[in-house]
Amino acid sequence: MPRPAARGEASEALDGVRGEAGACKDCDLWEHATGTVFGEGPVPTSLMLMGEQPGDHEDREGRPFVGPAGRLLDKALADASIDRSSVYLTNAVKHFKFVPARNGKVRVHKTPTRAEVGACRQWWERELQIVQPAVLGLLGATAAQAVLGPAFRVSKQRAEPFELPSGVIAVATIHPSAVLRAREERAEVYAGLVSDLETIASHVPAARRRS
Ligand code: URA
Repeated sequence: MPRPAARGEASEALDGVRGEAGACKDCDLWEHATGTVFGEGPVPTSLMLMGEQPGDHEDREGRPFVGPAGRLLDKALADASIDRSSVYLTNAVKHFKFVPARNGKVRVHKTPTRAEVGACRQWWERELQIVQPAVLGLLGATAAQAVLGPAFRVSKQRAEPFELPSGVIAVATIHPSAVLRAREERAEVYAGLVSDLETIASHVPAARRRS
């Protein structure tokens, strides 16, 4: 594990990577998206959460998790007693992939291909190096498979800890949008997300609980 970076040093490094990612054309998604939506939050910090890709709101605002899934995540973090302001939030893919909606209003999310996820890997790997979390929480299959490999199944392996070569503990759970999609069983799906977030937070060593 490299020595922990000082806060100023880390945010400067992150600004540099954010700038580079803003000009990324390594796959075709940049063409239709408004811009790169990079991660945000304190650096270094003990907990980093990674979703799939920005949605319609995130694309318009240029910030991760500010739409309906983000609001649900905020509530789940609060219910899991995790201070949202201490979490670095990012996505496996930095551009919004969508199909234009017929009514012209809401653009409909489209799952990124493995090649698109692969093209973005360089960005979250560099975020991980700078953020230096103790724990990386993976929200949904795209993020989980990007980090833990294509054979990973959230349905079978959620809440299990995996140690990455860097020593970071990666733990996957469902994506908050799975709660929004759930109907009668929504309360149960939500409770599962909160419980997994509690598990994720429990892997942060006591010595790093406040950073
Ligand atoms: N879903 C994600 O995976 N990330 C966001 O930033 C918003 C919605």
